[in-house]
Amino acid sequence: MTDMSDRVALVTGASSGIGRATARAFAAKGARVVLAARRKHELDKLVTEIEGQGGKATAIKTDVSAAQDVEKMVAHAIEVFGRLDYAVNNAGIEGQWAGITDLTEDEWDRVLDINLKGAFLCMKHEARAMLDGGHGGAIVNIGSVNSFLGFQTGSAYVASKHGLIGLTTSVSAELAPQGIRVNLVCPGFIDTPMHRRAREIVGDELYDEGLIPNVHLQRAGRPEEIAQSIIFLCSDEASYITGTTLTPDGGYTLTI
Ligand SMILES: NC(=O)c1ccc[n+]([C@@H]2O[C@H](COP(=O)([O-])OP(=O)(O)OC[C@H]3O[C@@H](n4cnc5c(N)ncnc54)[C@H](O)[C@@H]3O)[C@@H](O)[C@H]2O)c1
Repeated sequence: MTDMSDRVALVTGASSGIGRATARAFAAKGARVVLAARRKHELDKLVTEIEGQGGKATAIKTDVSAAQDVEKMVAHAIEVFGRLDYAVNNAGIEGQWAGITDLTEDEWDRVLDINLKGAFLCMKHEARAMLDGGHGGAIVNIGSVNSFLGFQTGSAYVASKHGLIGLTTSVSAELAPQGIRVNLVCPGFIDTPMHRRAREIVGDELYDEGLIPNVHLQRAGRPEEIAQSIIFLCSDEASYITGTTLTPDGGYTLTI
């Protein structure tokens, strides 16, 4: 697999779950890692962990829905490590689950601003930095099985994740001629804090007896397993893959 020791990877939402596992996986491949999220103290702990294992990392407090924050995040990556090769736009929220007549405009905006506008803002600045660097790069956005499937009371989340498909394919077409690949990873049920909150709402019984039996592998995934899909799409081994979706969901979306 690609030696990433001369590469720089940026991960948003790196303070928890899939983002944290991805940051660790990049560091394990030798990449220097830029960690971005809203909880700086959690990021600082991860910097200490990565540096304790001989890696290099830096953290910056970022709200991906705020244009100024995102601009500063990418500028920080260039200032500290001098280049940007990989960007993983993972930060996301599930929002409050509510039927369409109860869903507030503010909540709709909050979910779309973080999950969809956040990815737009991140790609805008990440792509500029990669183009300026003149060495290409790879961007991975994080969708969901809800990029394909709806669920009742989840319309804002589902709309944001569906939107990431169109955003990813369009930006892929724009950037591929300049050596930047853009893909979307669409995880299934992955054991993270977000997933545990969802499980609490659904209830153990429906989760264990209604949902997990539809996963071919009969279990939730681990964040580290999603990190490996992301690392693959960034690596040189994925050099002919762009504009597509990879769905590490244990087979959940394949049968009814
Ligand atoms: N866990 C799952 O089952 C699952 C399934 C499909 C997709 N996903 C997607 O994977 C991504 C990561 O989710 P997770 O399960 O690790 O959740 P998580 O709640 O554990 O982590 C989410 C991360 O995003 C960060 N974040 C949230 N809002 C932010 C903002 N405005 N600016 C910057 N950072 C922000 C949080 O601080 C945290 O670090 C999300 O985009 C989520 O939609 C998760």
